[in-house]
Amino acid sequence: RTVAVILAGGTGTRLGLGIPKQLLKIAGKPIIEHTLAVFEAAPEIDEIIVLMAAGHLADAQRIVADAGFRKVSKVIEGGDTRNATTRIALDAIGEGDVNILFHDAVRPLVSARIVRECVNALWTYSAVDVAIPSADTIIQVDELDCITDIPVRATLRRGQTPQAFRSGTIREAYRRAEGDPDFAATDDCGVVLRYLPGTPIRVIDGSDENIKVTHPVDVHLADKLFQLAAAQAPRLTDHRSYTEELTGRTIVVFGG
Ligand code: CTP
Repeated sequence: RTVAVILAGGTGTRLGLGIPKQLLKIAGKPIIEHTLAVFEAAPEIDEIIVLMAAGHLADAQRIVADAGFRKVSKVIEGGDTRNATTRIALDAIGEGDVNILFHDAVRPLVSARIVRECVNALWTYSAVDVAIPSADTIIQVDELDCITDIPVRATLRRGQTPQAFRSGTIREAYRRAEGDPDFAATDDCGVVLRYLPGTPIRVIDGSDENIKVTHPVDVHLADKLFQLAAAQAPRLTDHRSYTEELTGRTIVVFGG
């Protein structure tokens, strides 16, 4: 059984809208609805759990009900930090061996291919991350904003989500982290890396489109990317009817 956990417990302070950014409408739908649609449609996913920001449970429940997402079994309140939200999700899933994918609600452009590759990688690995190469040079700085290191770019990747785990691995990592007063992490693979050292964490290729809506410019970018996807999708899946719709007559381009 494979469970997708949609992390929507944040409030989006960097976007600064006054509502959690996962509720912002892009291309006619709340961001979280786009995200849920990908997991609802993925044949690899059996169940979806939504962890929502406090005070907005009803919004998420309404979105799920209106869209008719049948795989969503629970909409519950997230925690104060992303890792606290993950912990609540682990408690909600309970015992028993399952595959768990954690995905940022605010990455609505995740693809079916990425979800499939994450789940497939769990046959071999107990922890899986998604990342892309960095076009920018990444520099390390100190508290005075002076450079302390410039790691070799070829060894660096930019982490995205989903992050996927066999339940035993992620539960054990969080159990060990619990006893650590210095616990700090911004993602879940980081918890496995730190508290279950030696566990291979397989990285699969993400995509440039799988952006995390974080700053105002990302809203425009995501909107454009949805327009692009909408224009391309029918052409790729059903070229002939798309062309007919556009021109009012049939033009068979690739031999139908
Ligand atoms: N998240 C969560 N619980 C939290 C904090 C974040 O589930 N306590 C989720 C967010 O809802 C988001 C994802 O983790 O889908 C990535 O986090 P981020 O982009 O940092 O979202 P926010 O915390 O909402 O944004 P900001 O840091 O600007 O406040």
